[in-house]
Amino acid sequence: MSAATAAQAAYIVAALLFILSLAGLSRHETSRPGVGFGIAGMTIALAATIGLASRSIAATGIGLLVLAMVVGAVIGLLRARSVEMTGMPELIAILHSFVGLAAVLVGWNGYLDVEARGSAQTDVAGSLLRIHHAEVFIGVFIGAVTFTGSVIAFLKLSARINSRPLMLPGRNYLNLGALAAFVVLTVLFVVKPNLGLLIAVTAVALALGLHLVASIGGGDMPVVVSMLNSYSGWAAAASGFLLNNNLLIVTGALVGSSGAYLSYIMCRAMNRSFISVIAGGFGIEATTTGDTDYGEYREIKAEEAAELLGDASSVVITPGYGMAVAQAQYPVADLARRLRERGVEVRFGIHPVAGRLPGHMNVLLAEAKVPYDIVLEMDEINDDLADTDVVLVIGANDTVNPSAAEDPGSPIAGMPVLRVWEAKNVVVFKRSMAAGYAGVQNPLFFRDNSAMLFGDAKERVEDILKAL
Ligand code: TAP
Repeated sequence: MSAATAAQAAYIVAALLFILSLAGLSRHETSRPGVGFGIAGMTIALAATIGLASRSIAATGIGLLVLAMVVGAVIGLLRARSVEMTGMPELIAILHSFVGLAAVLVGWNGYLDVEARGSAQTDVAGSLLRIHHAEVFIGVFIGAVTFTGSVIAFLKLSARINSRPLMLPGRNYLNLGALAAFVVLTVLFVVKPNLGLLIAVTAVALALGLHLVASIGGGDMPVVVSMLNSYSGWAAAASGFLLNNNLLIVTGALVGSSGAYLSYIMCRAMNRSFISVIAGGFGIEATTTGDTDYGEYREIKAEEAAELLGDASSVVITPGYGMAVAQAQYPVADLARRLRERGVEVRFGIHPVAGRLPGHMNVLLAEAKVPYDIVLEMDEINDDLADTDVVLVIGANDTVNPSAAEDPGSPIAGMPVLRVWEAKNVVVFKRSMAAGYAGVQNPLFFRDNSAMLFGDAKERVEDILKAL
């Protein structure tokens, strides 16, 4: 078997491992083996690629390659070990920017290589050369959009720049204009390639990535991160075509399509269209209608909440962004354990976009060692809420807002929500009567079966634990 055949066989094994990895990562019970499959696939892919390259590259080249990989791996390991859960999105964003930059460099190199050697001396010639030019352009374009978009996402998420959406006049036309310029430049480049056109498309794409992400607001950033994840996949696939590397094409397509699907799931769970997220500007206008009279709200103390829980036989906990802010997952897990020891049926109801990251609540609860089998998805728990004695809403707001289901005029109308108001008693943990992420007032707080437990969620849950 030749080295090239062995490498292709290794690539197929690696591609299968990547698919198994994605399948594993889709459920928290199987996420650890999922990560293991991913690591195994990447190790095989790297070994096969370096093995293949060592036949055509001088030993010093391979030495430099390995050195660069070791330095990169050490930096990556150190960063990954020290990153806080809350810092994860910004780390992912900056890593996507590297993929984008790599795709730009591969594209430029692809063009300069053919130019320098002349098409006759390379393995691309004739009509294949035109395809090669198109690949260069597409790779550079997607890579450059991913690069600047991810850098802006990183700066916004790490609060190094203001996360408010940039609202330039005619911003949608600017984006459409950049896309039209890309199409025209690509046609020109395929017909008669030259360096000026390559510089022009790189500049257009860098500006588009910058503007696209700058116009998207703080809370929509998780969708942006997953969208950039998708772009980085397509950029890698484009590089795969240029480098004639099948594994890179397959892996890029896997990342590209799974990122796109994740963005779609998030948008559907927020009842927003993907286009409206990309068009940006969400959350810039205060959407709260100040003149609506919702009635009076009722306040409850931790001791009374503890009494309510003591008398309950079924309890559902619906956490939200506030639980993450307060880092209340540990006392919440303790509370669940204590109630279960007393024979109370305790379950968690997780809204798909609770918090600010996909799976945000699941990760926090897993961190606090809450058993997986009592953590249910919104659709699994919604029909049981009417038979539940007490629902504890811990720092959630939009995801439990009845106006999404009942008020067609609400900005979040149609967003699927946890129907907590159907339970016998609802206790809402938050610090004030302030609105949630969408800026919409929540009529749940004023219902007869609801009571507000004000204060930091972690402190209040600890108070309940003491009172129990
Ligand atoms: P939100 O609607 O954001 O409400 C969180 C609530 O937590 C706030 O009303 C806040 O009220 C309270 N809070 C904050 N800090 C607290 C603390 N230390 N102790 C107690 N309470 C605290 O939360 P949600 O229900 O999780 O909804 C998520 C929102 O984010 C949705 O609108 C969703 O569309 C959006 N979003 C989610 C994602 C993903 S992927 N998850 C992505 C983009 C957007 P006080 O200030 O009064 O305390």
